Amino acid sequence: MKIDVISIFPEYLAPLELSLLGKAQDKGLLEINVHDLRVHTSDNHHSVDDTPYGGGAGMVMKAQIWGDALDDLITDGCDLIILTPGGRRFNQRMAEELSTKSHLLFACGRYEGIDDRVRQHYSTTAYSDRGIRVHEISIGDYVLGGGEVASMVIIEAVTRLIPGVLGNPESIVEESHMSEGFVEYPSFTKPATWRDLEVPEILLSGNHAAIAKWRSEAAHKRAQDNL
Ligand code: ADE
Repeated sequence: MKIDVISIFPEYLAPLELSLLGKAQDKGLLEINVHDLRVHTSDNHHSVDDTPYGGGAGMVMKAQIWGDALDDLITDGCDLIILTPGGRRFNQRMAEELSTKSHLLFACGRYEGIDDRVRQHYSTTAYSDRGIRVHEISIGDYVLGGGEVASMVIIEAVTRLIPGVLGNPESIVEESHMSEGFVEYPSFTKPATWRDLEVPEILLSGNHAAIAKWRSEAAHKRAQDNL
C-alpha cells in the first residue's frame, strides 16, 4: 500500500517511521510519504489560509494551494481522505475497508478546515470515473488542532490489518471492535499474584471450555460497563 500525507507540519508525522509502521516499510509492504503543503505557496509569507467568506472566527485553508498539492499526488483508483471533525466517524469497519486499497492520500486540514470546493472538485465524475473516492473522516466527537494526529490514528488502524504487517496474524482474528459492540476479554500474564491481586482461578485450570465461557462473560460485562 502507498500512503501520502499532506500537512503544513510534516515533522508532526515523524512517528510514522517507528515501530510496526517502520518495519512494514522496511519489509516493502508499505510506502509512506509525507509532503509539506507550503511548497505550493507563492507569496513571501507562504500563507496557506485566508478569512472565511460570510464572516466568522478563524481562517480557512485556500483551495488553490490544496488543489496544486493534490493534483501532484492523486492517482487513478486512490482514496482521498480529508480529516475534519465534521466528517464520518471512523471505526473498525472503515479501517477494514481502507486496508484493501492500494493508495491512500490524506489531506490534513488546520484552522477552520479546507475550502469546501476542494472536496467538491475531487468528488466530481471526472475523478469518480477514474476510481477516485473522497471521504471526509473524523476520529471522534472532539476537536483537535488539525488532522495530523487523526491521520496517524487512521493509518495505524488500517495498516495493521494489511497481511504481513503484524508479527502474529492471529492477534487480529479475535479482538475488540471486530464486530459491532464487541470488546475483548481482560488479559493476565505471570505472576499469578501481584500486589495481592490474583488471576481468576479458572484461567489456571486448563479447562478450555470453562475458560472460553469465562472470557465471553467477562467481555460482555466490559461492553456493558462501557455503555
Ligand atoms: N481535525 C480536527 N479535529 C478532528 C477530528 N476529530 N477528526 C479528524 N480531523 C480533525
